[in-house]
Amino acid sequence: MAKKIRLGILGGGGDSLIGILHRVASQINDNYEIVGAVFNPNYEESIAFAKEIDIPTNRIYKDFDTLVEEELKLPKEERIQVCSILTPNFLHFPMAKKLLDNGFHVICEKPMTTTYEEAKILQAAQEKTNTIFAITHTYTGYPMVRQMREMIKAGAIGKVHKVDVRYYQGWINSIIHDKEKRSTVWRLDPKKAGISSCMADIGVHAFNMVEFTTGLRIKSILADFNYLYDDNQMDVDGTVLIRMDSHVKGVVRASQVATGEENGLAIAIYGDKGGLRWEQENPNYLQVQSDTEPLQIFKPGHAYNSELSLDGTKLPPGHPEGIFDAMANIYKGVARAIRGQEYNDGEFPTMLDAVRGMDFIESTVESNKKGNVWVELD
Ligand SMILES: NC(=O)c1ccc[n+]([C@@H]2O[C@H](COP(=O)([O-])OP(=O)(O)OC[C@H]3O[C@@H](n4cnc5c(N)ncnc54)[C@H](O)[C@@H]3O)[C@@H](O)[C@H]2O)c1
Repeated sequence: MAKKIRLGILGGGGDSLIGILHRVASQINDNYEIVGAVFNPNYEESIAFAKEIDIPTNRIYKDFDTLVEEELKLPKEERIQVCSILTPNFLHFPMAKKLLDNGFHVICEKPMTTTYEEAKILQAAQEKTNTIFAITHTYTGYPMVRQMREMIKAGAIGKVHKVDVRYYQGWINSIIHDKEKRSTVWRLDPKKAGISSCMADIGVHAFNMVEFTTGLRIKSILADFNYLYDDNQMDVDGTVLIRMDSHVKGVVRASQVATGEENGLAIAIYGDKGGLRWEQENPNYLQVQSDTEPLQIFKPGHAYNSELSLDGTKLPPGHPEGIFDAMANIYKGVARAIRGQEYNDGEFPTMLDAVRGMDFIESTVESNKKGNVWVELD
């Protein structure tokens, strides 16, 4: 029986949105044990939270630097092997850099950094230390998204020519119109979120979904943002035209002010032989459409699905699995990589995805700033 992987957590305290998703996901396939953490910048709060969720407090550290320092003093077989970074965006880079430099593996929330420059520094750091790095584009862990990728790879829809991905949320609508409320949200503060709100928070997921499912690289983009108010520095809505090739084009639409929308991520990929459509709020249905055959719906867990898709389900068909399971699939892939086992490259998004995501975010900001011009991605 393989030993559990020793996991450290940075951020993701009881007051956070995403902490519980990572903690539960890390436990779902019995691969990890949480052994150390800095859940909050306030030490007392971190300790109190560790007690609340019944994690030993001897390796709850007062801050990130202390965590690295103290863990390095431990014998290798006791030391944290991988750290999940779940803090606001501006802390991802300094944390990931120090972890990678010191040989820890990293699971990092998106966006990886606040600049493309920082992303390339992390890429070099990872190459140097030969560590495992995953960026949690959670939706790639859904069985039917994996199925899309494998079907497109196998030629099921022929040559891809049109892509349409939309990620619409509405939660900032209740905040953005009030100047005071606006200043309380870190996602609208460039010092904490970086150069973008909407594109960096959710547009980047949409971007990654296009590249993950089609296997194609987006080569150039043209963006049009809405900031809603002249004194608001952060985009809250944007439409991005994308070109993968001269005859392969599409659109990424993202919004945090699509009033009443919850987590409306939806992707459609069209090829010359067929089309595929999937929606995050209804994740166990993959629509397969063609000009000549009746509409088909693929569902998880059936033998007709690909190996990669089937690896992402745990129960027989008809037992709905959701976002916790999708994240758990990413953790499962990372566990295989850490243990040196074989894994499919669709099991978790990597450093390359993270770097491309930062290139996308910066390019959209540049395009919008220059008056909605085409910008080439590297
Ligand atoms: N993959 C996804 O779908 C997804 C969804 C939501 C959020 N996220 C990402 O997760 C990250 C966190 O987002 P959130 O919504 O959970 O934020 P949040 O503000 O709800 O929580 C942030 C947590 O980090 C802690 N923290 C802040 N500074 C810290 C420090 N110096 N040391 C240790 N802990 C510290 C806070 O106390 C809090 O517990 C962001 O980068 C965000 O983009 C990803």
